[in-house]
Amino acid sequence: MAASVVGTAVTRVDGRVKVTGAARYAVDHPIEGVVYGVPIASTIGSGKITAIDTSVAEKMPGVLAILHHGNCGPLFRTASPFEQDSWMSESRPPFEDDTVYYYGQFVALAVANTFEQALDAASHVKISYREEKPLTRMSDVAEQPPVRSRYARGDAESAYNSAPMKIDATYITPTETHNPMEMHGTIAVWNGDKVTLYETTQGVMNHQGVMSQTLGVPIEDVHIISPFVGSGFGGKLAPWPHSLLAAMAARRVNRPVKVSVPRSLMFTTVGHRPLTEQRVRLGATEDGKLMAIVHEAKNPTSMIVDFMERCTGPTPMIYSCPNVTATEQLVKLNIGTPCPMRGPGRTPGMYALDSAMDELAVKLNLDPMEVRLRNYAEKDESSNLPFSSKHLRECYQTGAEKFGWSKRTPGVGSMRDGSEILGWGMGTATWDAYRGGSQARVRLSADGRARVSCATQDIGTGTYTVVAIIVSDKTGIPVERIDAVLGDSSLPPGPTSGGSAATATVIPAVAAASMNVIGELLKLAVITDGSPFNGADATTLAMSSGRVHKKGDAPESGVPFEQLLKLRRVAALEAEAKTGGAPDEDKYSMHSFGAHFVEVGWDPGIARLRVRRTLTVMDAGRIISEKSGRNQILGAVVMGIGMAMLEETIYDPRNAKPLNNNYADYLVATNADIPEQECIFLDYPDPVIGEYGARGIGEIGLTGVASALTMATYHATGVRVRDLPIRIEKLMANRAV
Ligand code: MOS
Repeated sequence: MAASVVGTAVTRVDGRVKVTGAARYAVDHPIEGVVYGVPIASTIGSGKITAIDTSVAEKMPGVLAILHHGNCGPLFRTASPFEQDSWMSESRPPFEDDTVYYYGQFVALAVANTFEQALDAASHVKISYREEKPLTRMSDVAEQPPVRSRYARGDAESAYNSAPMKIDATYITPTETHNPMEMHGTIAVWNGDKVTLYETTQGVMNHQGVMSQTLGVPIEDVHIISPFVGSGFGGKLAPWPHSLLAAMAARRVNRPVKVSVPRSLMFTTVGHRPLTEQRVRLGATEDGKLMAIVHEAKNPTSMIVDFMERCTGPTPMIYSCPNVTATEQLVKLNIGTPCPMRGPGRTPGMYALDSAMDELAVKLNLDPMEVRLRNYAEKDESSNLPFSSKHLRECYQTGAEKFGWSKRTPGVGSMRDGSEILGWGMGTATWDAYRGGSQARVRLSADGRARVSCATQDIGTGTYTVVAIIVSDKTGIPVERIDAVLGDSSLPPGPTSGGSAATATVIPAVAAASMNVIGELLKLAVITDGSPFNGADATTLAMSSGRVHKKGDAPESGVPFEQLLKLRRVAALEAEAKTGGAPDEDKYSMHSFGAHFVEVGWDPGIARLRVRRTLTVMDAGRIISEKSGRNQILGAVVMGIGMAMLEETIYDPRNAKPLNNNYADYLVATNADIPEQECIFLDYPDPVIGEYGARGIGEIGLTGVASALTMATYHATGVRVRDLPIRIEKLMANRAV
């Protein structure tokens, strides 16, 4: 049997259409007769709309409608806004009433024949407000917010108080804004009572459910098409107001309507990672064994939705410790609604917790990796369950070996390369593994091609390639002859691309559908005139290398599947499958783990800090698609460099306007910021999550990067940055070297 393509470096099956520009993203779809909706966003942070004067705008050329809360048709709320299939990013639909909850909230929509006409009309709509002073910082709210979530085991306060070694530090991560290359946008097309939305979404099924409920139409009358997504990072998990407005406006003007969210409004109306403030207290013995962890996290949310970042998610399970308390608090502010952003909770949470672990290592004069090894969790102490598969120790050790960690000298500023002082840091990465339910359909055609389809989507992560690899693995048909079709709600239901769970969720369904269609093919092989297997028992046959053959015989002895279909004079065979979660998921704690090692160079002569190299070792189960998998991890580390050194959304305290709402002022890591990067996969199949043992890798690469970088920066400069991002001025004020 030919070698499987699983885990090999298959080139993205959608790569060619992407690099040639043939791939159509949401607002690229050429729709006959499309008109344009330009949103008008509030210019205050809090208050009431007192008047909307559309008299001038309505008479402008090409204008079809100016919609606002006073004149638009109803949009409904979803029955249970946080459930799968009806998760809305903002539970309040746009234009529900005259209240303004945040700067940039959509208050009207100008619809016109051309984009320029709509833009011009939008600028001529006069909106009057009664402005109130917005709450823009957590310190604007005087009273202590209630604790919304609390985890406790043992007695962490007493253990902390009696511990000989203590760390007590507060860490702040700023608001971060998702900056996918493809901005949000929707084209809505009504055909009678049915609506089609060309979307950019991480979940076509969820989007369909939400649109059905908010527009008040039966679910089968809503069709979501999202073949390519120029990244989401969590910002496209659930619909935002512009999508609802496009659908509402299209129904109103009886034309297809396109609404594109400009980059500036990407900072207000489509989510962000909220700022986090985390106090971490560690109590330890003199040899570095943790006695207590007290992790208190707080994040601001909007007036509309209670979004908890959950920074303390990994705290109860990542290190071994008998006494742990973890709490979460929310503070409601007049800012846009936050939402998940790549590695939600665990990314800022591990920054704080791992920074505190490093501060403990420094205090004890221990190697930072040694402190982690002394507190290695052999089981999940929060659930008392064994891990399904954990090789974190090997991640540390392999990483240390490849990085040359043993050459690290602990003294601040003690390592040099020419004019640069080197700093080395390391950190722990972690993310939950989850597998849900999915369906899939596989088709074998007489033209010699196979097709796999599912209503999940590829958000740039490699899902097209992954599903093609699985069909190839089961049938032996080469990946080049397999068409993967995703991103369409009319296909067999599949998962949202979120929580790093899409791969683990969809591959069991694809594998089962492949086996089902093979079963159909074998049944056909034994009843078809001219088939060498006519009259045989189907159970004695198998399919491999794209051929049907006797079990045990070489595939070359058999018949290519397309020949059997031709003999039978059928165009194609098709089969579906439906699969659920991992059968033993409640008996195990399923997580992925990893270790990052980083080197920074600090040039005190010119006050320059840069990342020189990164090395990541990942224990994420079996890797299905090596190239796109590596791309996920390296990309996440790039994002971690951005988080540590560049990214911060700054709000104007007067009106809550994001001041750096553009690519020039909001810095993301670009090529010039990226050093030499390496990624190693340990590739141990997880025996619990499924046949293929793949756990998913979308988010884990970002966790643990920022703390490794602040640790390296401390090692080079002597400055411990506890409020991200690291800025040169923070180093200049306090540096030791
Ligand atoms: Mo992820 S933040 O669930 O896209």
